[in-house]
Amino acid sequence: MSKSFDVIVIGAGPGGYIAAIRAAQLGFSTACIDEWKNAQGGPAPGGTCTNVGCIPSKALLQSSEHFEHAGHAFADHGIGLKDLAIDVPKMLGRKDAVVRQNNDGILYLFKKNKVSFFHGRGSFVRGVDGGWEIAVGGESLTARQVIVATGSSPRALPGAPFDEETVLSNDGALRIPAVPKRLALIGSGVIGLEMGSVWRRLGAQVTVLEALPTFLGAVDPQIAKEAHKAFVKQGLKIELGVKVGEVKAGKKGVAIAYTDAQGGAQTLEADKLIVSIGRVPHTQGLNADAVGLKLDERGAIEVDAECRTNLPGVWAIGDVVRGPMLAHKAEEEGVAVAERIAGQHGHVDFNLVPWVIYTSPEIAWVGQTEPQLQAAGRAYKAGTFPFLANGRARALGDTIGLVKMLADAASDEILGVHIVGPMASELIAEAAVAMAFRASSEDLARICHAHPSLSEATKEAALAVDKRTLNF
Ligand code: FAD
Ligand code: NAI
Repeated sequence: MSKSFDVIVIGAGPGGYIAAIRAAQLGFSTACIDEWKNAQGGPAPGGTCTNVGCIPSKALLQSSEHFEHAGHAFADHGIGLKDLAIDVPKMLGRKDAVVRQNNDGILYLFKKNKVSFFHGRGSFVRGVDGGWEIAVGGESLTARQVIVATGSSPRALPGAPFDEETVLSNDGALRIPAVPKRLALIGSGVIGLEMGSVWRRLGAQVTVLEALPTFLGAVDPQIAKEAHKAFVKQGLKIELGVKVGEVKAGKKGVAIAYTDAQGGAQTLEADKLIVSIGRVPHTQGLNADAVGLKLDERGAIEVDAECRTNLPGVWAIGDVVRGPMLAHKAEEEGVAVAERIAGQHGHVDFNLVPWVIYTSPEIAWVGQTEPQLQAAGRAYKAGTFPFLANGRARALGDTIGLVKMLADAASDEILGVHIVGPMASELIAEAAVAMAFRASSEDLARICHAHPSLSEATKEAALAVDKRTLNF
């Protein structure tokens, strides 16, 4: 006898659990299925983001930043410390506790919103009268509407499978039991820079090998240049334009053969290797073939602009479909799909999805970069303001970086905001709000910002678009 629901969500990452809550809020009887297990074998909803992604990485970034400040910045404030040491098991234990709080929080939210949670793998069985049958454990569930939110998995380097001892994915990278002396990373994207920063701050010699000749190619070049300068100064060794060859990994370490940008044959030896060369959509175990659910050539579930798959009543969201692999993008799609099921007009504006890289300095942006505007032939004005000229940044002792604003040359509408500097992750929200309301740079420049605050740098960047900064 199967249990019947209005909506079944497969996957309880940020896409799935938020979709389930929104569907329940809209009055649908909703089930959410997730297979992630904690160390005790119990449920651990929250997906990649909560268990091995956003949350634990930010916990370690915080711990390692405290350590770095204690070692380098405290002295400037007149604070002396003797015998500074890092207790890695304790740091990892704190990170695990933060993850558990988030897992428990989601289970609480399911109860509060009357979402039925099933712990196990959800697989399509067949189409049934006007809906779908999904198997989980020994049970059978049916629903008219199914939302697939099964996320993504780390991409392995051919010939160097993850053993999570020496060759690490994001999972192993978040639980290295002691600071490695030499850490190698392949891929200087978001994970490479965040995880490289964590272990460098704790004392590892970090080398990052990147295939592309440009650093952070998707980031506005002025911002990427400033960030690169800061990371190199911190001691992160970044080699661009390399071609990675054979990777020999053993219990004691790893040797990576590669060709450098000049074509020279090199070998990098390290105690641990983190491979961070992107992620692939995860559809294993879904039994997509049985019902004819269509995947694209990358293995992502094929969807239209509104997240509809080729099957009636089956939707897909988050990392398992096209678009940026970001938790907040997955969440927005989850809300929009639940609202579409309810006959409402759920909407996600991909141009307004902010990006953040939680390094120090942080990097954040929303909207278009200069090269994108140039490629589109759009006439624009640019304004920048350095944190060096911001009073709060000076008081914080954190003056690296700048805010850059791009606005339409004729209408002055803000087209992109790019930040490298302190608290860029928080500052970018103002830019996203302004752009969602289609503000002009003058609108933003005329808004009263608290003094002293980092947000004044955003206001000054808006003034800079009109060449009338007040503090620079
Ligand atoms: P996921 O979070 O991957 O969740 C999918 C869930 O579905 C998992 O729990 C999985 O077990 C479950 N599942 C899969 N198949 C089945 C099945 N058949 N049956 C039952 N359950 C199933 N993004 C940000 O926005 N900010 C960040 O700071 C950030 N940091 C990151 C750091 C790291 C190290 C990594 C790896 C990623 C980070 N991301 C970040 C990306 C973010 O984690 C993903 O974009 C986000 O988790 C995608 O959400 P999702 O719901 O689509 O999938
Ligand atoms: P990424 O796409 O950000 O970066 C991968 C990098 O590896 C690229 O620069 C690419 O050129 C390089 N690369 C690919 N193949 C290579 C090879 N063979 N040799 C050398 N370099 C190679 O992917 P990453 O860092 O693995 O992260 C995956 C995704 O997770 C991100 O794209 C992002 O969507 C998400 N994420 C988001 C975070 C955030 O929002 N702060 C933090 C971490 C991850």
